[in-house]
Amino acid sequence: MFPDFVERDVNLVRSNTLALPGLAAFYARITCVDQLKQLAGAGLPDTLRCFVLGGGSNLVLSGDFDGLILHQAIAGRQLLGEDNEAWYVSAGAGESWPEFVDWTLNQGWPGLENLALIPGMVGAAPIQNIGAYGLEVAERFHSLQACDMRSGELKHFSRDDCRFGYRDSLFKQQGWHLSGRFVITEVTFRLPKAWQPLIHYADIPAELKARGVVEPNARQLAEAIVALRQRKLPDPKQLPNAGSFFHNPVIDAATAQRLSAAYPGLPCYRQPDGRIKIAAGWLIEQSGWKGKRLGAVGMYENQALILVNHGGATGADVAQLMRTVQQEVREKFAIDLTPEPIFL
Ligand code: EPU
Repeated sequence: MFPDFVERDVNLVRSNTLALPGLAAFYARITCVDQLKQLAGAGLPDTLRCFVLGGGSNLVLSGDFDGLILHQAIAGRQLLGEDNEAWYVSAGAGESWPEFVDWTLNQGWPGLENLALIPGMVGAAPIQNIGAYGLEVAERFHSLQACDMRSGELKHFSRDDCRFGYRDSLFKQQGWHLSGRFVITEVTFRLPKAWQPLIHYADIPAELKARGVVEPNARQLAEAIVALRQRKLPDPKQLPNAGSFFHNPVIDAATAQRLSAAYPGLPCYRQPDGRIKIAAGWLIEQSGWKGKRLGAVGMYENQALILVNHGGATGADVAQLMRTVQQEVREKFAIDLTPEPIFL
């Protein structure tokens, strides 16, 4: 039934940055599109669950997985072309995102510097429309190619097709990130030549000032962002985590006004649609969870939005802490926190 590159009972503990234990019943390391075509044509049962694993940096493994893990490892990066306005750069879905960003900067193509050092793979970036320091990947996205696992055919998705939102895309809206229906193979970015540094996000001006940089080039801005991230976000190799554990809630302006009146320190960011994004990390800190532990897991001492594994945690421990934090934030602020990582 399975092509011979499919392995059995593979341990996933090193394949997720929260270092949660679990075995994959079936596992395939995908290095080329042809393997996907073979799998699509193999007549696998409809009941077999399929999940595409990238860097495992946005994943909560609940335990053993009885389906097929497709471990994304398609490599390659190239300049596809350029016109007067932009460079068009593509990368295989299995390329490391932070290495790809670094490479584009080394080539002299700025535009992705605010997304420096975000863990994970290129193929995962559009699925949850990764964002940081005032930029979302949707703003630099051109198109992607994905394999339809029902037919084995490659399909092209434009920026509009992808229906990007805050940490959201068509792939999430359709549940394809969980069903494995479409597997992203390559992503193309459009990097405008009319480059302007994006330096307005809260922490950036102070960091640039401390570095004595007034008009940063893209490399200097990337360096400042890398330093900020390293200070605030724990390195998963030292302290396993999955980045921000909750979305920042986006609420209506009237609710935000009421909350701000009661809690003047609440960080609020107006969205283009008039709604207000509020800082989940602040809500969690105010609920007393910054640096606090529940068994083997806890909320990080320097950034309360990061859930960390202090050693030996399971998916159940993570779920229990998640529910406890959600409940306490709901009781104090009447705000529902939704988790950012995917639960498998
Ligand atoms: N804050 C607190 N206490 C905390 C954490 C944050 O009061 O423990 C306050 C900060 O002082 C600040 C505000 O909350 O006023 C926002 O904090 P921060 O700038 O650290 O960013 P964030 O909103 O917590 C988001 C993204 C991060 C991204 C950073 C920087 C989400 C869910 N998270 O975090 O993305 O790196 O902004 O742009 O949107 C990720 O998605 O995994 C991720 C790390």
